[in-house]
Amino acid sequence: MNQHARLDAAPIPFIDLAAQRRRLGNTVDEAVGRVLAHCQFVMGPEVRELETQLAKFCGARHAISCSSGTDALLLVLMAKGIGPGDAVICPSFTFCATAEVVALLGATPVYAEVSETTFNIDAASARRAIATARKNGLKPKAIIPVDLFGLPADFEPILELAASEGLFVLDDAAQAFGATYKGRPLGTFGLATATSFFPAKPLGCYGDGGAIFTDDDALAETIKSLRVHGHGTDKYDNVRIGMTGRLDTIQAAVLIEKLKIFSTEIAARDRIARRYHAGLKDVAIVPEVPAGYASVWAQYTIRLAPGRRDGLATALKAEGIPTAIYYPIPLHRQVAYRSYPVAEGGLAVSERLAQEVISLPMHAYLDEPVQDRIIAAVRRALAS
Ligand SMILES: Cc1ncc(COP(=O)(O)O)c(C=O)c1O
Repeated sequence: MNQHARLDAAPIPFIDLAAQRRRLGNTVDEAVGRVLAHCQFVMGPEVRELETQLAKFCGARHAISCSSGTDALLLVLMAKGIGPGDAVICPSFTFCATAEVVALLGATPVYAEVSETTFNIDAASARRAIATARKNGLKPKAIIPVDLFGLPADFEPILELAASEGLFVLDDAAQAFGATYKGRPLGTFGLATATSFFPAKPLGCYGDGGAIFTDDDALAETIKSLRVHGHGTDKYDNVRIGMTGRLDTIQAAVLIEKLKIFSTEIAARDRIARRYHAGLKDVAIVPEVPAGYASVWAQYTIRLAPGRRDGLATALKAEGIPTAIYYPIPLHRQVAYRSYPVAEGGLAVSERLAQEVISLPMHAYLDEPVQDRIIAAVRRALAS
């Protein structure tokens, strides 16, 4: 086999964390080494330092780190006293954690439809979901828009709807920290924002982690208490039922180093998304970023005519190119989640997207020759 043939067949990673490790050099190893030296593994100085930097990065008054994106969502709902009899409106076309936290607290997720172009919650359907909740004898308390695949939800109509109905908005930005909506970074919309630092996320650590952002001082205090077993003035003064929800110091140290290169990585992801757009827009439905939005491209997800997706995935796999389906089953069709109410008008778009979407390799270190190989392979597969 000649060199060219070998390069053409080399497997391509879906997300290349090893390439990022090479770019970071020894910085992460040294940062972790400092934690190993001072031994403050829980709530060490890096945790506070990271929180200060995260808050500064997005302009929120408070950043509270925690154990995962799921716990970030859960801590906000716990702090707001969400429980049985309450309804929380969320999209069905999302990762299960969005609705899981609602159900864990004994409250009821009510599913709203998403937009066909942005894949994010549709405000008109969210309004219908509120009516559906009331018809079911539930008290609508909150809306959780999701910034799917790194693209911000359309906050203006959602915030207006929430204000007019007396609900709060919890932004599920697990996939989208670093993105902006109408010039403002996520972390500053609604009552609170939750994000995830799962390794595959645009800003990921080397394990599980998450954060909550809010401008509300009282909410921030309650969340900090809940994060450590509901502590009061000290840790053996327990004033509420809480949990073990802290971010490890080692993960904070990793994130401090990764945050230093995050802006350049966001720019690289955007450049890569534009190249995909140019290379694929005539053969697939490519993601559109509405004017005034900036995505962090957690995924680059295209849509194909029904029935074409499996053939594309198989053809790409044969060429060493991985793909992923986010999400093959919308929540209202999932065994654990299908008993919850659906907004009047139904969820036809969510069902269609679940059949048609497919995500291509996307990360900040996808170089042009490799991306050209992916684009050419997609074009070949779709032409046949
Ligand atoms: C939309 C959404 N919400 C919540 C989460 C939960 O984050 P974590 O995996 O950090 O708990 C994820 C993670 O994949 C997600 O994609």
